[in-house]
Amino acid sequence: MGERMTSAQLRTAFLEYFRKHAHEVVHSSALVPANDPTLLFTNAGMVPFKEVFLGREDRGYVRAASSQRCVRAGGKHNDLENVGYTARHHTFFEMLGNFSFGDYFKRDAIHYAWDFLTEVVGLPAESLWVTVYEEDDEAAQIWLEEIGIDPQRFRRIGAHDNFWSMGDTGPCGPCSEIFYDHGPDVPGGPPGSEDQDGDRYIEVWNLVFMQYDRDSEGNLNPLPSPSIDTGMGLERLAAVVQGVHDNYETDLFVPLIEAAGNIAGISDPKNPSLKVVADHIRACSFLIVDGVLPSTEGRGYVLRRIIRRAIRHGYQLGIDEPFFYRLVEPLESIMGDSHSELSQRREFVEKILYQEEKRFRETLEDGLDMLDDYLARTDSGIIDGEVVFKLYDTHGFPVDLTADIARERGLEVDHDGFERRMAEQRERARAASRFGGPREEVIDAGESRFTGYSNLADVGRIIGIYREGSSVQQLEAGEEGMLVLDQTPFYAESGGQVGDRGEIYTNSAWFRVEDTVKQGDAHGHLGRLERGELSVGDQVSAQVDQGTREATVRNHSATHLLHSVLREVLGDHVQQKGSLVAPDRLRFDYSHYEAPTRDQLMEIEYRVNSQVQANLPAQAEIMGFDEALEAGAVALFGEKYGNTVRVVSLGDYSSELCGGTHVQRSGDIGLFKIVHETGIAGGVRRIEAVTGGRAVQWAQQIEGQIQRLSDVLRVSPDNLEHKVEQLADRSRELEKELERLKQKLATQAGRSLVDEAYQVAGVKVLASKVEAGGKGLRETVDQLKNQLGSGVILLAAVQGEKVQIVAGVTKDLTAKFSAGDLVNFVAQQLGGKGGGRPDFAQAGGRDPSNVNNALASVDQWIKESAG
Ligand code: ALA
Repeated sequence: MGERMTSAQLRTAFLEYFRKHAHEVVHSSALVPANDPTLLFTNAGMVPFKEVFLGREDRGYVRAASSQRCVRAGGKHNDLENVGYTARHHTFFEMLGNFSFGDYFKRDAIHYAWDFLTEVVGLPAESLWVTVYEEDDEAAQIWLEEIGIDPQRFRRIGAHDNFWSMGDTGPCGPCSEIFYDHGPDVPGGPPGSEDQDGDRYIEVWNLVFMQYDRDSEGNLNPLPSPSIDTGMGLERLAAVVQGVHDNYETDLFVPLIEAAGNIAGISDPKNPSLKVVADHIRACSFLIVDGVLPSTEGRGYVLRRIIRRAIRHGYQLGIDEPFFYRLVEPLESIMGDSHSELSQRREFVEKILYQEEKRFRETLEDGLDMLDDYLARTDSGIIDGEVVFKLYDTHGFPVDLTADIARERGLEVDHDGFERRMAEQRERARAASRFGGPREEVIDAGESRFTGYSNLADVGRIIGIYREGSSVQQLEAGEEGMLVLDQTPFYAESGGQVGDRGEIYTNSAWFRVEDTVKQGDAHGHLGRLERGELSVGDQVSAQVDQGTREATVRNHSATHLLHSVLREVLGDHVQQKGSLVAPDRLRFDYSHYEAPTRDQLMEIEYRVNSQVQANLPAQAEIMGFDEALEAGAVALFGEKYGNTVRVVSLGDYSSELCGGTHVQRSGDIGLFKIVHETGIAGGVRRIEAVTGGRAVQWAQQIEGQIQRLSDVLRVSPDNLEHKVEQLADRSRELEKELERLKQKLATQAGRSLVDEAYQVAGVKVLASKVEAGGKGLRETVDQLKNQLGSGVILLAAVQGEKVQIVAGVTKDLTAKFSAGDLVNFVAQQLGGKGGGRPDFAQAGGRDPSNVNNALASVDQWIKESAG
């Protein structure tokens, strides 16, 4: 047999064999299936031919062969979690396949496969096993009678393994699989037996007899004509041919593992993290080549998850800086010839991977520290959903990354709890547009006449009802929705002023309005029908909530005053850049090049209040646009206005084009108080302020705080400032003193601990109990490493019923001794678990009584590891 065929030679031999048998050799398609929303990624060789199988596309050939790149991560066929822990799971692989579109069927497919494996590749017939679908007598007969396969090495198997489908819908059919027997030295049972998942019998080729198209109801509809789809993983075939049991030992992976090992300074090719990284660079590079970019959802999120998992494993290997992108070059040497797109886009791929890694590394370490802290505190064996969520939300850990860490440490992940937290977060996001949210997409709901400038109550007729975005005739008690009236006093959110709240009711029905939004020319009242029924055509009473509306108009009129004052105090260049007018506060964004000084802000506030006290009358007038500008009204730059406009003025002091609702006299504002000023973008600043009762509350709150401070510090409010200065000085002095003492202590403690180091098997070892635990232990370990120069350190701090354990190994020794292994070895004896990196790791235990024995056992561990 072609015993040492390289994988490149195998690929070529396969394609050439089928070319000789009248197959069109087709270049691999992209990993993102064209126009197929049912599929996340190309997950089999047949995917690009789906339409041809279904008879909807004619390619001008009826036989084809390809070496298709595939990804199985996310979606129906998902292998991500197993990668690195088994000999042959991959996120990315190449599938060699031959296809017949209504041309040859079972007989030829079986003959070709057998001929290729035994004649071209030269595998011995006695090493090959075959399975067929249990009801497929036709295939069984071809194998047994025509090929003459030994019945001892032949099995009929159920649909679980021998019926193949591309996805939940699409082409599918019974199949026949060919296995390679690696021989009795390797554990594992034959196909169909209980231990078939061992490493001895490996499926190399799947021949699918495509007969059906599964529809979304699960019905199997016959294909226009029976067809053939086969798939053989190049990686597995290479392993068989190259005489290894592990795909990672083939020429497709060895150079990648070596490259990653060189970066990490690790030479053991069996290290699972090296395998993970070698697998993942293939998937990530080709996904990017094929147009996927890391993102927060869909394909991009799967890519991000794989990249982050690889980065975490790199970190685990002790690699301190972005490294993943450096594996693209060795990958190109292996695969660039057969997948030329990779060579063409290499630099781009490197750039994307580098950026993603740089970003994730910023949060990775914090996330791992948080997880270690948590694990040192808990002993439940499960990582709480809350923690998983926090890692996800704050530190960008995809849940399968956390699951990966959990698996290494023999823990489980509370998936349900995590999902609950995710659902809550989604619910919070949804709550914002809770009423079926036709906010973005404007519904053509007719026209409402707004009568709310002068009235807070009115009657109207329902001209439209909407529920979950669609028009309905009726709303029932308990339902949420949107009502449109022909006439309404409810102000609909616009020009920065929020929509009104209130009630719409009849004798028997009561609808609580939580917000009002513009829908074209209509006002949509969003809320919930608390009682009764409402139908289109009903006459209703509408009542705006007076308190919130009055609070809102105070804030609205105050923004007009503020606008004029800002131009007086800061200059004419000031323009309004945006505003929010709500019942509880106002926000005014304006253009200005620097932060106003404290004095300017006080001046601004003072002048607004002067205009409030002047009790200016408010007036609204409709006039022509040009006429309004001539009269000096301020129009907002970039706003669209009609031919006639509404001009709101406050005495002679302010005049603006505005559709909002306002006070009757400026005195209604009561009090204007700035609570916050800040820059929000280059050249744009924001003032937040409160008015009326809110402003009074605000002042009372501040006064209360001052009073409480005076009480705590036992001085009168007048002396508060002086007292706080004194305290700040004193505390600075004390901190300095404390720092001095700490350093002295650490040096002494470190010095005396160092003296406890001794030699075991030629290695300096320090295994000690220490007094103080907490975060400082990590620093102590770092100091000790420096002082020892070279050595292995294990410290245990007993705190009540718990033990904190940390281990450190100087870099020169990490190849032999792993801090992670050591900390676990000790933690196990103390009923705990932990983990970390080769040079530093920590764990928690909960059996303080055994600490001395556990410390003593470190010697033995060193001897064994030194081996
Ligand atoms: N499409 C078949 C598979 O992926 C050949 O196994």
